[in-house]
Amino acid sequence: MSVEVYLNRNIKEIITEFPKIEGILDEYSIGCGTCGEGLCLLKDILEIHYLEEDLETELMARISQVIYPDNQTTFPKSERKPHGKNEIKYSPPMKKMVNEHVLIKRWVALIPKVIEHIDLETKEGLQLINDGIDFIRNYADKYHHAKEEDEAFKYFDEYLHIIKVIKNDHIKVRGHVKAMLQAISNKDKNSLVKHLKSYSKILPEHINKEDEILYPWMDRNLSTTQVGQLHSKFNEIDDKYGEAPKKYRAFIEKLEENYN
Ligand SMILES: [Fe+2]
Ligand SMILES: [Fe+2]
Repeated sequence: MSVEVYLNRNIKEIITEFPKIEGILDEYSIGCGTCGEGLCLLKDILEIHYLEEDLETELMARISQVIYPDNQTTFPKSERKPHGKNEIKYSPPMKKMVNEHVLIKRWVALIPKVIEHIDLETKEGLQLINDGIDFIRNYADKYHHAKEEDEAFKYFDEYLHIIKVIKNDHIKVRGHVKAMLQAISNKDKNSLVKHLKSYSKILPEHINKEDEILYPWMDRNLSTTQVGQLHSKFNEIDDKYGEAPKKYRAFIEKLEENYN
């Protein structure tokens, strides 16, 4: 099979045929083996992960050695757009979303303590867990995801694998939140803990995918005009939410103070 055929093949299939490739990709922090979707084509992976040029050449040489152990076949060089992964320079709207992730990560870091203090029997205990879920639903989901799903993604084909992967993460998170609310109303502490833990496992990986892969990729593929449009849309969203984000920041700060 020619190299072009492999570039256009689904990575899961390639890994099934050549299991060694999973480990090689892993060495370059490309976790396709453990990715739940695995829908990307080999060429998409190169475009999405956007390794530095020499690293990409090295990676492709190693992959071709596995596929064609007997002869030296090289993959054609992929087309490259400015700036590599090492110094991520975000456009202002992407930077805004990266900054919002910082607060979300601070919340995720607090979850083990929140779990330790879960009390579904007292008013204070319920207040704390409900405030936490309110943060997830209204800050992380509505306010932040509104920027991703309702605005930024609109510029891209919804069937692109990278968009699907991110949207599927959002769907999973919403599922856990729904289950948390159900657990609270059933006073089922075990189930609440289980879903909080699953949530806090998905979120850091999700945020990394966005900060390191999705947002730089979007920046490379949006025109300057589109970035400008996105920026003003985001400002409109911020205006609409007014003081609410401040309230959520205060909630996180208070919790940090209480637990540290
Ligand atoms: Fe997201
Ligand atoms: Fe995000």
